[in-house]
Amino acid sequence: MCGIVGYIGHRNCVPVILEGLRRLEYRGYDSAGIAVHSGGAIHVQKRAGKVADLAGSLDGGNGFLTATFGMGHTRWATHGEPNDVNAHPHGDASGRIALIHNGIIENYSSIRTKLLREGHVFRGGTDTEVLAHLIGAVYEKVGSLHEAVRLALSEVDGTYGIVVMSADDPSHMVAARRGSPLLIGVGQGEHFVASDASAVIEHTRHVAYLSDGEIAVITADGFRTSTIDDVGTEKVVEELNLELAQIERGGYDHFMLKEIHEQPSTIRDAMRGRLLVDEGNVKLGGLQHVMGRLLSARRVIVTACGTSWHAGLVAEYMLEQIARIPTEVEYASEFRYRNPLVNIDDVVFLISQSGETADTLAALREAKSKGATVLGVVNVVGSTIAREAHGGVYIHAGPEIGVASTKAFTSQLTVMALITLMLARARGMSREDGQILAREIASLPEKVQQILDGADEVKRIAHEFAGARNFLYLGRGSNFPVALEGALKLKEISYIHAEGYPAAEMKHGPIALIDERMPVVVVVPKDAIYEKVLSNIQEVRARKGRIIAIANEDDDEITGLAEFVIRVPRTYGFFGPILNIIPLQLLSYYIAVACGTNVDQPRNLAKSVTVE
Ligand code: G6P
Repeated sequence: MCGIVGYIGHRNCVPVILEGLRRLEYRGYDSAGIAVHSGGAIHVQKRAGKVADLAGSLDGGNGFLTATFGMGHTRWATHGEPNDVNAHPHGDASGRIALIHNGIIENYSSIRTKLLREGHVFRGGTDTEVLAHLIGAVYEKVGSLHEAVRLALSEVDGTYGIVVMSADDPSHMVAARRGSPLLIGVGQGEHFVASDASAVIEHTRHVAYLSDGEIAVITADGFRTSTIDDVGTEKVVEELNLELAQIERGGYDHFMLKEIHEQPSTIRDAMRGRLLVDEGNVKLGGLQHVMGRLLSARRVIVTACGTSWHAGLVAEYMLEQIARIPTEVEYASEFRYRNPLVNIDDVVFLISQSGETADTLAALREAKSKGATVLGVVNVVGSTIAREAHGGVYIHAGPEIGVASTKAFTSQLTVMALITLMLARARGMSREDGQILAREIASLPEKVQQILDGADEVKRIAHEFAGARNFLYLGRGSNFPVALEGALKLKEISYIHAEGYPAAEMKHGPIALIDERMPVVVVVPKDAIYEKVLSNIQEVRARKGRIIAIANEDDDEITGLAEFVIRVPRTYGFFGPILNIIPLQLLSYYIAVACGTNVDQPRNLAKSVTVE
């Protein structure tokens, strides 16, 4: 989704901004632009396409070699097609104000109509251009940029993270946030503003996160913040817990491959200091104060989007089958709009890698307003969901840059396994049984490594199927969500159509698709329903479908049934998804590479979706 980088200080701002935009490329975008202040004017360059195209189009003119104050943006189109005109920054009617914006202005149409009546002329179709004109019109009257932004925003419905600069005053920029993350980077005689810490980490580790409803005035030497009602606020400058190496490819061809291979250590990090194998128990600091509410919960609701929703579906099996707690899973994007029956006895888990997904955040607020206890299972420390939840557990997977989520998924599952074990023990599971589960969880990183060691075999299989146009993924029980996630991974990065289905449900429809050209990936661990899945495999075989089985190492029977078998170690049934998804991540990665798609920046997708 859109990215923001602003700089004010003593260096040439252009390389700082362009490098920051490159760091944000992973979030997904379709156009990019930059504005600098130079010679008493604002100079803007913007275009559809990549940051590299923008960089290549900048010549030394217009202060692009010397400016020390400027801002840049990567846009992911919502209103108006991705072209040069609709790219940000946008100017106001006078050309003296420039604005970059993440989010959506919901009432832009009525504001536009009002401004048209006043004689404004709009060049493109974006909500952002309307906001730029609105701020410019107020600025004409009040003469202060901060005041103009404040008054204009009080007329606006919707979400935004914005940065505004004025040609009249190169001493400061104004930033404001509602629903779209922004942070201020603090340096020596220089300050940054960005939508994501990765854009500033090269220059400073000291950041202050803006809260919803806050406006900041940022100069080279400092910043001050206030509410939209102009009441001053205090900000704590925090130290970033992020290393530059974590956001670089480190020798891998793609971030996605790097992140797939990081999983033995990210899963270990998710359980570090929390899993008490000898006690057969788990300690989670972020849930201690809500344990009473968790234990008396009438039911648990898990809500999330995309891959995180799939993690929720697996968690439902864990929580119900191991801890025996009634659990429901809901798409966050649907949750709010069906006036959900949530009450104070419910506990709602929000699973989110970014902690910023607009739909998930809206679900959190909805559940909170109905009195439920809301708990985050989040990766990004300090993100909005993490801050607004009553408690929760960080998954500690480190920055996930690949748009197709991989390591976050397995860490989410690991954390949900920990939560489940902790609740099961508190609800009466014996220490001995707890130890068995704890030992299984502790052995997962090694087993994941074993699967990764066999990546070459998955690559060979991927080459066999790179020409396929459709895939079917089948699984049962807690491996049904694995089938969904495997299919999602393939769609996202290779653009091959893929469907995940419960294996037994296949005969009620998708079986019509099966012929000798249809690859069917079946997750078939040796569990209680193994024989049933074998029957489903026979149904595919009878129609000449090409079977790729994800099966356990000691399964001889599958060899004669599937054309290809990818082996995974055995584990306790409900933890199986943490292992079974690994070969599916690799399969989709290698197929996408063979198809020649841009794995780290797949078309149309955004890493973090901060609009509804
Ligand atoms: C986007 C990403 C997905 C992700 C989903 C939820 O659609 O492309 O990979 O699963 O958002 O994101 P979250 O950050 O809330 O886990």
